[in-house]
Amino acid sequence: MGCGVISGIYIENMLKYKPLDVIACGDLDINRARAAAERHGIAKAQTVEQMLDDSEIEIVVDLTVPNAHAVVNDQILAAGKHVYTEKPFATVKASAKRTMDLAKEMGLLIGCAPDSFLGAAHQTCRQLIDEGLIGIPLGAHSFMLGHGPEHWVPLPHAYYQKGTGPLLDMAPYYISAFVNLLGPIRRVTSSARITRPERVIPSGPRKGEVIKVETPTHVVAILDFESGPVCQLTTSSDIWEHRLPYIELYGSEGTLIIPDPNQYDGPIEFRGPNSSEWRPIKSDLPFGVNSRGVGIMDMAYAIRTGRPHRASGALGFHAVEVMESILDASELGRHVDIESHVSRPEPLPASATELDLGS
Ligand SMILES: NC(=O)c1ccc[n+]([C@@H]2O[C@H](COP(=O)([O-])OP(=O)(O)OC[C@H]3O[C@@H](n4cnc5c(N)ncnc54)[C@H](O)[C@@H]3O)[C@@H](O)[C@H]2O)c1
Repeated sequence: MGCGVISGIYIENMLKYKPLDVIACGDLDINRARAAAERHGIAKAQTVEQMLDDSEIEIVVDLTVPNAHAVVNDQILAAGKHVYTEKPFATVKASAKRTMDLAKEMGLLIGCAPDSFLGAAHQTCRQLIDEGLIGIPLGAHSFMLGHGPEHWVPLPHAYYQKGTGPLLDMAPYYISAFVNLLGPIRRVTSSARITRPERVIPSGPRKGEVIKVETPTHVVAILDFESGPVCQLTTSSDIWEHRLPYIELYGSEGTLIIPDPNQYDGPIEFRGPNSSEWRPIKSDLPFGVNSRGVGIMDMAYAIRTGRPHRASGALGFHAVEVMESILDASELGRHVDIESHVSRPEPLPASATELDLGS
């Protein structure tokens, strides 16, 4: 559901992944659904209502825009289907809670992107930490810094509305990655600012149009983890250039450079107390290419076997609560405790292959 920019790679991968059959493409705009179905050789192009009524469909993948996720997810669950949603799960915690309650009531599963923490790079980092390479993790610095989507997206207005911005758009990658590496977050604090209350579209057919900014565009947060580490996360749409890492994780026995949590591969490096230089670490785990949708494959197996799935609604909910609390903390001028607790998702099994996660 939602045949926009990101749907192509999802459909491509879902067509490859063994337990999934792609039955239909759906969209508010039926022409978009038709174009996607034709491009990928999918039998049905559907309206929202047709997709919800189709008894052949077990899981609907919600690839609509962030502000629509909560409503669409609820519609899918109410129609008796499992849902796997793009991030953020919802733009406010109250809506995410309603969706979680509905899924429980209906006995259905929710999956939530991102699933890049299941990629080769982040699974390798997870393995290294669990094997004790960096000793006891104590903290991290992490950064997602850019100069705003008006420089590459033709219609960037929605990005600056409440419920979006750099935090809600990009922090889900970092929060899922951190939970995979370190476990859940117990409290947060932050300072956030709207650097420019109005932004101007710099090029393209809407050049010169003014966008009103309703949400912070520079957010510096501190995350305290239940397991002890204290990590800093900065998300910003106000930065031209920088030389900061995606994630640098510190432990009692050394430092691990962790690649972009929005990718499935990337360079990993380690340096310990006795090493004179950074040591590159290769990953030979599966899902090292763009594997958007691996979380859906994992959820499909979970539906069939009853085991837990990894890119879960519970993880997506935790991310929404953490992000909302980060913004609240800045307004309130204090730490905010996180109520939700989510377990670290299990690592992928050693037997996983690019196309099959097994049971
Ligand atoms: N574009 C990217 O690079 C990218 C990367 C990762 C994740 N995402 C996430 O994927 C989601 C979709 O992003 P996109 O860039 O593909 O957006 P998009 O605007 O290109 O496409 C969204 C599609 O959803 C449809 N839609 C909107 N509301 C709907 C509704 N209520 N019911 C049915 N269809 C509806 C629209 O008609 C459109 O075709 C977002 O949550 C985004 O954060 C995007």
